[in-house]
Formats: sequence, C-alpha cells, structure tokens
Amino acid sequence: MKSISTLSICLGRCEKRSDEGGIIDCTLAGVVREIEIPSRPTIRKLQAAAAGCQACDLWKSATQTVFGEGKQTSTVMLIGEQPGDREDLAGAPFVGPAGALLDKALAEAGIDRTAVYVTNVVKHFKWEPRGKRRIHKKPNAAEITACRPWLQAEIAVVKPRVIVCLGSTAAQAVIGAKFRVSVQRAQFVPSDLAPFVTATVHPSSILRAPGDEARHEEMRRFVDDLKTIWKAISVPKSY
Ligand code: URA
Repeated sequence: MKSISTLSICLGRCEKRSDEGGIIDCTLAGVVREIEIPSRPTIRKLQAAAAGCQACDLWKSATQTVFGEGKQTSTVMLIGEQPGDREDLAGAPFVGPAGALLDKALAEAGIDRTAVYVTNVVKHFKWEPRGKRRIHKKPNAAEITACRPWLQAEIAVVKPRVIVCLGSTAAQAVIGAKFRVSVQRAQFVPSDLAPFVTATVHPSSILRAPGDEARHEEMRRFVDDLKTIWKAISVPKSY
C-alpha cells in the first residue's frame, strides 16, 4: 500500500485532495491546509501528530484534539460523530454519558471494550454557547473531509475486522450518503475499509428517547445490533 505522508485538502465544496501534499488547484477552494501523517504510523504517533491539527477551524474553539483510543490490534472499530463536552475536556472519546451507555451496551452484548478501538469522524468538539453551556453542533462536510485523513490512517493502522459506525453522521461519512441507519442498521455493506462494515444508532439517541420505556426499548435494540454484528464476525468463513 502506498504510504501517505502529506495530504492536502480543499475545504471548499469540491473536497479534492492530493496524496502528494502541496497546493490543490481548485476553483471552489475555501482554505487549503495540510495534514502531516507520520511515516510508518502507529496509533501513538498519529495521536501525537493530530494533537496539533489545524486542518479546519474547529481547533480554535476546542480544548484539544480527541483522538481515537484502544489497542492497535483491536478487532472492532467503533466510529462516532465527534467528541462531546466531556470528551473535549478529558481528551478521550466516549467518556461522557454516551460513553457510559456504550460501555453498558458492549458489556450486555458480551463485547469487551478493551478489545474495541473507539474513535470519531471529527476529532474536535464543535459547539455553540447556550448560556453557560456548550451545546453540540453537527460537523459540516468540509470539517468531516478535513479530518478524514486521520480516520483513514487509524483504519490503516488498526485494520479492524469490523467497523461499526454509530449514528447517521458517521454512517454517511464512512459508508456513504445513501446509508439510512433507520432502515439498514446492523446490515453489512461492501466496503474496502474492512471485511465487515455496518452502522447502528448513536448512543446519544438512546439517551434522548422520550421516557423510560422508549429508552429501554432503544437500548434493547442497540444491544441486539451489537450482538448480531459480533456473532456475524465471529463465525469463520466457510470457503
Ligand atoms: N459522541 C460521539 O460521537 N463521540 C464521542 O466521543 C462522544 C459522544
């Protein structure tokens, strides 16, 4: 595989990129900034390099880059949207309320979180102020594109057997704009990224479910999705 050292990304609407670095010739270009992917990357090297990432403007209002975490040998990669308030302060993914729910669901599904690599499509917290609170704002296409080389590098290093996108932002960024989590949850789609690629709901959506009954039902379905995915990837291929 070609080793990527520098990527240039157009932050305009065309989303053009160049693996050679340098300036992209693009008439739609907004800002073009470079991301340096270390040669012979490891997760630790990537984490260190991403700490100074300014490929889009989100670093300006975030506390720090929140890179993925987990063993480099993980079989499962879970991909969320972006760090939340708690993750931004802690510098680690899924450590807030959504992370606690995710831990519980993984445990109920019989999946050890220490065998799972957890990351996000976007590595900086995007937010807007509401009173004293920082309210999550959805990342836009340019921010997702700017951050994509980090995710690609994480996938290349970890080589997970299965990628599970959590929620539609991650699913659409990783699988494609046509993927509908509500219709296709836990269904595998053909992909070059990993032998098994799928998506399910984001744990935050379960926290937002109206009332205890709905929340329990959504949690049950989420755990079922994780069990289904785990069972499918655990079966050796018969060919
Ligand atoms: N939501 C996400 O998508 N990722 C996190 O890390 C936390 C909350």
